[in-house]
Amino acid sequence: MAVGIFDSGLGGLTVYQAAQERLPDVPFVYLGDHANTPYGVRDADDIYDLTTTCVSRLFEAGCDLVILACNTASAAALRRMQEGWVPSDKRVLGVFVPLIEALTERQWGDNSPPREVNVRHVALFATPATVRSRAFQRELAFRAIGVDVEAQACAGVVDAIEDGDMILAEALVRSHVEALKRKMPEPDAAVLGCTHYPMVEDDFRAAIGENVPVFSQPKLVAESLADYLERRPDMRGSGEVGMFLTTGDPQWVSDQATRFLRRRCEFHAA
Ligand code: DGL
Repeated sequence: MAVGIFDSGLGGLTVYQAAQERLPDVPFVYLGDHANTPYGVRDADDIYDLTTTCVSRLFEAGCDLVILACNTASAAALRRMQEGWVPSDKRVLGVFVPLIEALTERQWGDNSPPREVNVRHVALFATPATVRSRAFQRELAFRAIGVDVEAQACAGVVDAIEDGDMILAEALVRSHVEALKRKMPEPDAAVLGCTHYPMVEDDFRAAIGENVPVFSQPKLVAESLADYLERRPDMRGSGEVGMFLTTGDPQWVSDQATRFLRRRCEFHAA
């Protein structure tokens, strides 16, 4: 029983960490496509090809259920994958829905018509490809009406985090938040729509101001995964061993991941 977690790079580790804390008995196979990160500057076809290649590798590792812990892949590739690519005995889930359910105060599986919700003005921070896809607004429109979303494409933040340059990452976060606030001075909520951003969540919170609630994915996704596995224990897959895989340089990635997770973490070649 192993569950796959995929991201273009290190960002999905924020989801991995929360999932592992919530489900300590489940082995997770993590795959980071470090050879091709960042995805946020790529076009949808490219993201689809890279994502399907990596998810196939996770199926091979004994995972029947794979979480795309990457908003960019969830936004640009997931629907196409679910429509014609995912084999009938496998599942691939994204990270948007748990976030939007939390934002709109819905329970899982509540498919009632869209309705008015408490938030009116939402600031979305995400990669250029996620912003371009408008997938967040599309998913939100299924559940809520009258919500104004202002999206800020946060160019450069993923690269800075992948390079371990947290000073640059913080400076970029500040300037992206300022740019967003020029367009929407008083958001009711801010959404971190990229799994790398929880690594600089404090910087986002400081720049946005303490009176704006920040919605961050790791815990929400972990909770929703726990819920899913309770309903579908058969989706735990045949794999027995947790591991970390990368398409990049395992040594470099292990060092970066160890710094982030604050414990030794060994990546192997995918
Ligand atoms: N963590 C990915 C996301 O959630 C980053 C995408 C990228 O590689 O640009 O969107």
